[in-house]
Amino acid sequence: MSAITKVAIAGAKGNLGDAVLEQLLKAGFQVTALTRQGSSHTFPSTVTVKPVDYTSQDSLVNSLQGQDAVVATLASEALDVQIPLIDASVKAGVKRFITSDFGSDTFNPKTSALPGFASKITVHNAAKKAAAESGLTWTAIINGPFLNWGVTVEFLAKSKSKEIDYPDGGDQKYSVSNLETVGKAVVGVLKNLEATKNRPVYIQDATISQKQLAGYLKKAVGADGWKENVISIAEGLQQGEEELKKPQPNGFFVFITSLRAAVWGEGYGGRFTKLDNDLFGIKQLTDAEVEEVVIKSVPK
Ligand SMILES: NC(=O)c1ccc[n+]([C@@H]2O[C@H](COP(=O)([O-])OP(=O)(O)OC[C@H]3O[C@@H](n4cnc5c(N)ncnc54)[C@H](OP(=O)(O)O)[C@@H]3O)[C@@H](O)[C@H]2O)c1
Repeated sequence: MSAITKVAIAGAKGNLGDAVLEQLLKAGFQVTALTRQGSSHTFPSTVTVKPVDYTSQDSLVNSLQGQDAVVATLASEALDVQIPLIDASVKAGVKRFITSDFGSDTFNPKTSALPGFASKITVHNAAKKAAAESGLTWTAIINGPFLNWGVTVEFLAKSKSKEIDYPDGGDQKYSVSNLETVGKAVVGVLKNLEATKNRPVYIQDATISQKQLAGYLKKAVGADGWKENVISIAEGLQQGEEELKKPQPNGFFVFITSLRAAVWGEGYGGRFTKLDNDLFGIKQLTDAEVEEVVIKSVPK
C-alpha cells in the first residue's frame, strides 16, 4: 500500500477532533476537514475546509476525491453518518478509513453485545463489508477513557462537588489515554498501514483505578468531604435493560450503564492486554506523570 499524504477528517472540531487535527498537521499530512454545511468552525489556514451534506453521496464522493485516508472523529450521536461516509470512501478510492471508536474495547465479545455500543458495531460491520468488497481498509483505535478530558469535564469523577463512583469496588485498573496520545495513534496508524490493516489497535497512556484517581483528586482539591459511592455494574446493566423496555428509552442512560460495564466490568476488556504503543512509539506514563496530568486537568 502506497504512503498516505492526503487525509480527510470528519468532525475535526470536536472534543477529540481538535487533538487529532493538531497531530495530523504536525506530522505533515495535507488535511481536509469535512464539516456539516452550516457549521461555523474556524480552522488553521493550512487546512482545506469542505462543507458536506452527509445525506448526499454526490457531496461526500466529490469531497473525498483524491484523499488517501478518512479519519472519523464524529460525535457519539452522529456515528451512523459513517455508513454513507464509508460508501463514499469506497467510491472515491480512499485507502484507509479510521472509524469513530476511540473508547472501550468494542471488539471484546461482552462489550460488543452491550446495547450502548450498537452504533459502533454497525459501523464496524459496514467497514468490514467494504474491505471485503473493495480496496478500502479500516482501523479502529481503542484507547479507553480520555484521562485529561475525563477529569476536566468531570466524566471520571466530580472534583468540584467532590463525588466519585467506585463501580464494583473501585480497585480495578482500567486503560486510559490523553487526547494528544490518541492524536499520535491516528498518525501512527496512517504511517503503519500494513501493520494496522483491518483490525483494532490498542493504546494507553497508563492504567489507573478509581481509588487511585480519587487519591490524586484529593491532593488537588482537598481530601475532606468526598462522597464515595460504591455502585454495582450488574445492577446498572439491569436498569439499562429495564430502560430499553420503555416506549421512549433514555439512550444516554442506557449508554452510561453500558460504558461503566465496558470500562470497569469483569471480562469486558477495560484493561487492555495487548498494546500497539510500541508500533507508534507511544511511551506509557509513570504514576507520578499520571498524577500530574490529573492535577493539571482538574476544572478551575
Ligand atoms: N474515550 C473517551 O473518553 C471518549 C470521550 C468522548 C468521545 N469519545 C469518542 O470520540 C469520538 C468523537 O467524539 P467527540 O466527543 O470528540 O465528538 P463531538 O465533539 O461531540 O463532535 C465531533 C463533531 O461531530 C460532528 N457532528 C456532530 N453532530 C453531527 C451530526 N448530527 N451529523 C454529522 N456530524 C455531526 C461535528 O462536526 P461539524 O460541526 O464539523 O460537522 C462535531 O464537531 C466518538 O467516537 C466518541 O465515542 C471517547
